[in-house]
Amino acid sequence: MLTGRLVTLRPIRAEDLGFLADLANTLEVRRNVVGWDWPVSPDAQHDWFAASLRDSHTHRLTVTDVTTGAPIGLTGLWDVDWHNQSASTAVKLMPGTAPKGAGSDSIMLIMAWSFYEVGLRRLYSTILDSNAASLGAYVRNRSLRLNMGILLRTLGRVVSRSGLIVDPGSAMLNLDDERRGQGGAC
Ligand SMILES: CC(C)(COP(=O)(O)OP(=O)(O)OC[C@H]1O[C@@H](n2cnc3c(N)ncnc32)[C@H](O)[C@@H]1OP(=O)(O)O)[C@@H](O)C(=O)NCCC(=O)NCCS
Repeated sequence: MLTGRLVTLRPIRAEDLGFLADLANTLEVRRNVVGWDWPVSPDAQHDWFAASLRDSHTHRLTVTDVTTGAPIGLTGLWDVDWHNQSASTAVKLMPGTAPKGAGSDSIMLIMAWSFYEVGLRRLYSTILDSNAASLGAYVRNRSLRLNMGILLRTLGRVVSRSGLIVDPGSAMLNLDDERRGQGGAC
């Protein structure tokens, strides 16, 4: 259990599965994240949860409201690479339920957990350049470095669901940068 100013992060519970299906299907969330997947059926959630518990490279956490304990989002670590001490991270909050600042608070908690408990040294994320809230939370508020070139070199350009060509940027934060307080857009 990781407790911040506005949110708590805890392991996913079976009682969260309906909320997580709704979150995955919410249009405002779907159109802001990199990648695409089929809409989720609530009936498939228990199988998905069982499979995710067996996946040693991915650790999802439910974001809850620190006051009420109600689920308001999802975050975690994906593709944990122990050799290089790195992982991908992301956060999705349900529109209308999360207080302003919940995104930055969730990111701060994931960073502290990853760097000071899990033992990672680098987190990275991919962000659509149209996603101003995510850029605000990851890059401006939490000082992740923005490396627009990296994902473009590896994936090329991504076509958004609206038919526009969009450039996802990748953001990353190093443990050493955080300790020196030197993270920042570059
Ligand atoms: C991205 C997300 C996690 C951000 O959460 P949040 O609680 O709004 O984040 P915060 O309030 O901590 O920080 C966002 C910052 O961006 C700013 N911001 C939000 N929308 C903005 C916009 N349209 N233009 C400019 N700035 C904007 C906010 O004002 C805030 O900055 P401030 O603290 O200086 O005021 C949330 O919006 C979300 O879950 N979106 C849907 C899923 C998603 O996009 N996930 C990220 C995938 S990379």
